Amino acid sequence: MSGDRKVYRSAAWFGRRDKDGFIHRSWMKNQGLPDDLFDGRPVIGICNTWSELTPCNAHLRDLAERVKRGVWEAGGLPLEFPVMSTGETNMRPTAMLYRNLVSMDVEESLRANPIDGVVLLCGCDKTTPALVMGAASCDLPTLVVSGGPMLNGKYRGQDIGSGTDVWRFSAELKTGRMTEQEFFQAESCMSRSAGHCMTMGTASTMAAMVEALGLGLPHNAAIPAVDSRRGVLAQVAGRRIVEMVRGDLTISRILTRKAFENAIRVNGALGGSTNAVIHLLAIAGRIGISLKLEDWDGLGRNVPTLVNLMPSGKFLMEDFYYAGGLPAVLRMLGTQGLLHRDALTVNGRTIWENCQDAPNWNEEVIRPFDRPLVEHGGIAVLRGNLAPDGAVLKPSAASPELMNHRGRAVVFETIEHYKERINDPHLDIDENCVLVLKNSGPKGYPGMAEVGNMELPAKLLERGVKDMVRISDARMSGTAYGTVVLHVCPEAAVGGPLALVKDGDMIRLNVEARTLHLEVGDEELKRRRAEWKPPMLEMKGGYQQLYVDHVLQANFGADLDFLVGCRGTKVTRESH
Ligand code: FES
Repeated sequence: MSGDRKVYRSAAWFGRRDKDGFIHRSWMKNQGLPDDLFDGRPVIGICNTWSELTPCNAHLRDLAERVKRGVWEAGGLPLEFPVMSTGETNMRPTAMLYRNLVSMDVEESLRANPIDGVVLLCGCDKTTPALVMGAASCDLPTLVVSGGPMLNGKYRGQDIGSGTDVWRFSAELKTGRMTEQEFFQAESCMSRSAGHCMTMGTASTMAAMVEALGLGLPHNAAIPAVDSRRGVLAQVAGRRIVEMVRGDLTISRILTRKAFENAIRVNGALGGSTNAVIHLLAIAGRIGISLKLEDWDGLGRNVPTLVNLMPSGKFLMEDFYYAGGLPAVLRMLGTQGLLHRDALTVNGRTIWENCQDAPNWNEEVIRPFDRPLVEHGGIAVLRGNLAPDGAVLKPSAASPELMNHRGRAVVFETIEHYKERINDPHLDIDENCVLVLKNSGPKGYPGMAEVGNMELPAKLLERGVKDMVRISDARMSGTAYGTVVLHVCPEAAVGGPLALVKDGDMIRLNVEARTLHLEVGDEELKRRRAEWKPPMLEMKGGYQQLYVDHVLQANFGADLDFLVGCRGTKVTRESH
């Protein structure tokens, strides 16, 4: 006997004494499971995004075995199951198109099966929010184990960071400062171990968000994928999820408003990815927490960026772990009144109990409050006639001299139009211009591509220009940098004002005042609106059509409208 007297959800399958009970147990026994495993013990789903097409998650089968070890030790029954995996580097048109699809896969898999609690195994960018969104719509006890970052990239004696240095190498290749052979050599130097991007890109940011929200165990964010302590964390997670089921510690008890506020401030301290804005808005929508775009500005504005990691700074995730990892950052925020100390976490302790003694071993990597990397980090939320429903910019990755800028628009109707035109030697452009990209938002692309950090024209790169103001309804990779205004809402494809911008219009960006203004009169805008035609969807039917018909704008997390909310674990029919 398991010793469990409580009746868990899985008993509605495995505890029955009728024909259905026979069917549920008998077919499971073809895996060699003895009778006594169906004695009413907690059944733990291990939701795995392992895939060889998602290289960042290709090691998750091994990690699942460590989770299982912990589940067995605590007297549970672990059952691993796959869900669709979204690999950032291979999926076209963009992995973000499929985040909501994966979340449906997770939600329905959890609800449909005899599962009492779940461990989510994720890593690459979209896999983390997708799994948490799906789990939030079910409200089971849920614990996230991230796959962990790759070891630092090493090229010619220097550390190089995933993504961040790709943008740099690409610019160097274009301007002849790097040969093609050197460019190819750098590939294997960058990605030299299992794990996800080791910059503070979206994957590391989301792993940190999970830890800050209380959904992951301490140090979930930063232990490298190949460090033996990642396996220990997975094993302890396996033990812990069984206890969470016994204590009925569901995800809705963890994901409170306070948890989201903690995560937003942590994002500011990390110089985390702008993608976290969209993902946390979507997760909050699933669990029924009211979170607004403005919360990102209000809560994060006075949080300095402390963590000196690429793309905002110079170190990488391996350095961050050795310096003390996220617990050190949480403790620092907690001592400054910037953390809700009583927020509950998956180990049953409060976030403050977890981090109050956490040391900072390296003040170059995790800067003290009196010597931050950027004084005002966080995410700036901009509004104005060009973005009536908001747009975002990451100050820690932007150039201070461009934060208050007026410039002439150079407009690209689509990303293909940008590619055709950007290196045309006759393009009338200088470093004071503002690059404007349309039709790259949730409906327009569709899927909201990571193309907002448009590479500068070769002729300006050759002259040493490093940054320009760029504006779009797209996202950008968390590993990217620059004075880049993203997520303009409403997007161009639904007729947002961005759709009306023309070459030569003047645009003013003022980050301090949080404004983004198109200097074109209302009458002229009205005239242009009358002429505007929505873009045609290239591929009709299938999931893409469902997505375009139902996707919400970025300020609502780009979730599908019918997926918002928590639908619980109740199945609609109980027998075959
Ligand atoms: Fe997978 Fe960056 S490509 S985490």
